[in-house]
Amino acid sequence: MIKQPASWLFFTLFAISGLTYAANKSVAPTANGIRLPKDYQDWKVIGTSHRTDNNSLRVIVGNDIAVTAAQSGKTNPWPKGSILGKLVWKDSQHPDWAEATVPGALSHIEFMLKDAVTYRKTGGWGYARWVGDKATPYGKDANFANACYSCHTTVKKDDYVFTRPVSLP
Ligand code: HEC
Repeated sequence: MIKQPASWLFFTLFAISGLTYAANKSVAPTANGIRLPKDYQDWKVIGTSHRTDNNSLRVIVGNDIAVTAAQSGKTNPWPKGSILGKLVWKDSQHPDWAEATVPGALSHIEFMLKDAVTYRKTGGWGYARWVGDKATPYGKDANFANACYSCHTTVKKDDYVFTRPVSLP
């Protein structure tokens, strides 16, 4: 007897697609069917960035497969199963130190999932974004990912990834 048919089916679907990860089921999936990875808050940092055109701070994190690839420099291509996450906050000023730019309101969290077969139409990466504190799925329909893919084509030579993993001693 299967007591939880929904989660069983979900696991099967991802097993077939080749990408398995635990999903946060209380957050709605994106229109292209991607679920929020459950443990992304525990992932390691791969990079960080600050954008001056829209005044926001970003931390780029990765799941174990992505972090291992980043640490060994094997990121072209990134291995199957890699997930990169980008966590974006609006710039804010530290209340006690005006020169310090610190995270303000959460803007969005977004992810790129590597699977050359499942996501072949968008360069081998599945794209997903959730907006704000309520984690509202971004995009009216699955075509939203075309805009992500299109802009990321700027760095096609680096397997569509902008981030340069940070180096530490
Ligand atoms: C107009 C260009 C543009 C669009 C559209 C865009 N991105 Fe990006 N993305 C960037 C740039 C530039 C960076 C690196 C700078 C930074 O950290 O913000 C980046 C970084 C990322 C990263 C971190 C990995 C990397 O490539 O460095 C993820 C994950 C990501 N984007 C996901 C998405 C998703 C999901 C969408 C669509 C919902 C999307 N992006 C749409 C330009 C874009």
